[in-house]
Amino acid sequence: MIKIAIVGVGTVGESVANILEKNADLISARAGKELKVIKGAVKDLSKKRNVSIPLTDDIDEVLNDKDIDIVVELMGGVDEPYKVVKKALENGKAVVTANKALLAYHRYDLQKIAGDLPIGYEASVAGGIPIINALKVGLSANKILAIKGIINGTCNYMLTKMINEGIEFDEILKESQELGYAEADPTFDIGGFDAAHKLLILASIAYGIDSKPEDILIEGIEDINSYDIEFAKEFGYSIKLLAIAKKIDENIELRVHPVLIKNNQMISKIDGVMNGISVIGDFVGETLYYGAGAGGDATASAVVSDIVEIVRAGKSSPMLGFKKPFKSENLKLLPTDYIQTKYYLRVTVKDEKGVLAKISKTLGDSNISIDTFLQKQVGDDKAILLFSTHVCYEKEIKKAIKEIEGYDFINQKVSMIRIED
Ligand code: NAP
Ligand code: HSE
Repeated sequence: MIKIAIVGVGTVGESVANILEKNADLISARAGKELKVIKGAVKDLSKKRNVSIPLTDDIDEVLNDKDIDIVVELMGGVDEPYKVVKKALENGKAVVTANKALLAYHRYDLQKIAGDLPIGYEASVAGGIPIINALKVGLSANKILAIKGIINGTCNYMLTKMINEGIEFDEILKESQELGYAEADPTFDIGGFDAAHKLLILASIAYGIDSKPEDILIEGIEDINSYDIEFAKEFGYSIKLLAIAKKIDENIELRVHPVLIKNNQMISKIDGVMNGISVIGDFVGETLYYGAGAGGDATASAVVSDIVEIVRAGKSSPMLGFKKPFKSENLKLLPTDYIQTKYYLRVTVKDEKGVLAKISKTLGDSNISIDTFLQKQVGDDKAILLFSTHVCYEKEIKKAIKEIEGYDFINQKVSMIRIED
């Protein structure tokens, strides 16, 4: 019998315990052995929970228990789970985790510590979608040319409700928390950091690139308002928080930010808490993955799949998918300034003569050509100017925005959304 301990019996941990109990016969047939959760570790033993496993509030009791074969880390955070996972591995236990924040910072050192011990992390990206296995195994023949993903369920749920039902930001955020989609600190979701953590994990498997969240462009959905939504609707766009990895020659572009994306693109149709990821390989072409990206049961489904695989296979393949460094290509992270895309700008101005001409000239002087323009009147003396541009460099748009924000007719900070065609 394989003995399992769950460290963190919250939204996901409870579901893991329940799946292992409810589908015990099927799972043991698939794994070839009986599996049993013999302990769960939590912070507060007095909390009511829907599980029937013995609980402790002493993690060391789990980590030092010689009987335990697999430790499932579902506590969240970075520093504390790092210590837990490290000690579990040092004590010879296999580990399964759903913790993308932990992996965004420590995936390479944990891979080293693990050696031949397996670490499963399928649940860390896109909840129930088996994207880690797809990249690590299914697409291993290919050079990965691009990954574009909606990989934060909370943001997708919120944007869908804001666009389709006109519900206010704060109200939907509260709902996402109640539904168990949001992180303990929801600024990780709405600020784009959670999606960035997941993108970095995918980028390691796809490109062998060891970047940290601080190295890449990350923007959240906090500034999106009803004018942006109106503009999107008028010009046939949806608004999504997209995580993008692109191979451009020997450079890798990694970025997370809201995008305006044309309604005829498959990924624009992924709504609610669903996640969707498009991966383009040089031989396979485009492949698409779709499913629930957050929530206890969907995430626990991926956690249990790792447990089954560990029991079936014993030793693991290299955690991040490379057995030795890939030296033929010297892939480097593309500096943010050199990102090239189209942009949408929302500029709130005093409604007076010469304003539009001045902004157009500033954009033109920065090599930026305007594609579409819309003006919304707000009262008698204020106007909101909405522009979209042709492709330009990130450094050019940033320079132009800085200049525009310096004019005395500007009422508030210029808002910018990148356009992904
Ligand atoms: P959660 O509901 O907040 O549960 C966290 C659990 O960890 C709780 O049971 C908590 O104990 C326990 N815990 C925290 N610190 C502890 C400590 N020092 N000692 C012992 N127990 C401790 O979180 P969750 O939503 O299940 O998420 C768990 C992990 O899965 C996170 O890394 C998250 O990013 C990841 N994840 C979540 C989802 C999702 O949809 N929720 C999806 C994918 C990945 P108490 O219950 O006593 O407070
Ligand atoms: N908070 C995350 C999300 C959970 O909303 O996608 C799944 O990783």
